[in-house]
Amino acid sequence: MPKIAVVVGSTREGSFNRALGRLSIRALEAQGAEVTDVDLAGYDLPLYSAAIESGAFPADAERLKRVFAAQDGLLFVSPEYNGSVSPLLKNAIDWASRPTGDEGLVALVAYRGKAAAIMSASVSPFGGLRGLIHLRQILSTVQALVIPEQVLIPNAHAAFDESGALKDALPASLVDMTAMRLAKVAAALAA
Ligand SMILES: Cc1cc2nc3c(=O)[nH]c(=O)nc-3n(C[C@H](O)[C@H](O)[C@H](O)COP(=O)(O)O)c2cc1C
Repeated sequence: MPKIAVVVGSTREGSFNRALGRLSIRALEAQGAEVTDVDLAGYDLPLYSAAIESGAFPADAERLKRVFAAQDGLLFVSPEYNGSVSPLLKNAIDWASRPTGDEGLVALVAYRGKAAAIMSASVSPFGGLRGLIHLRQILSTVQALVIPEQVLIPNAHAAFDESGALKDALPASLVDMTAMRLAKVAAALAA
């Protein structure tokens, strides 16, 4: 049973990416994954700065890093802001990439050897594609193995029904397929 954390890059009330994250959690659980829902609203993360880091590593940055490090896989669901990932998510990824204790500079214990998958819901007709291109590159940089499957939900304001399900069958099936592949690759890497 792979351990997978789901991280949503928006804390906005009524967030479409949170809705997509909820669907992904269910899809991962259907694959037998043990899912941790990482709600970034519950982490007090200052904007990364070397001065803060060298003073005292923020307790919540360390806590987030430990949560990531304990997983076999990571699923990131991010809005697109001006063609890239949300600053909330980038800041969280950056803090969790930093070495602590005796770790070497590029230990990357939160990411190295783990499977990752990416999704985005956006109000534009392009579904956050530019943001996911950046997110894939960022996660590869920190040594996560990003699976090729990904999910884009365009016109997100009209994509979900009242129960929170996706109205269209194709994106809904892509959520399930991506969850299946992530669970499989995460389990294989952990074996
Ligand atoms: C600063 C900012 C920049 C944005 N830039 C983009 C963008 O480049 N592409 C896009 O599709 N949507 C963009 N949006 C709109 C978001 O897709 C929309 O706010 C979406 O609902 C955010 O995700 P959420 O519902 O999960 O909070 C932007 C929103 C903000 C606040």
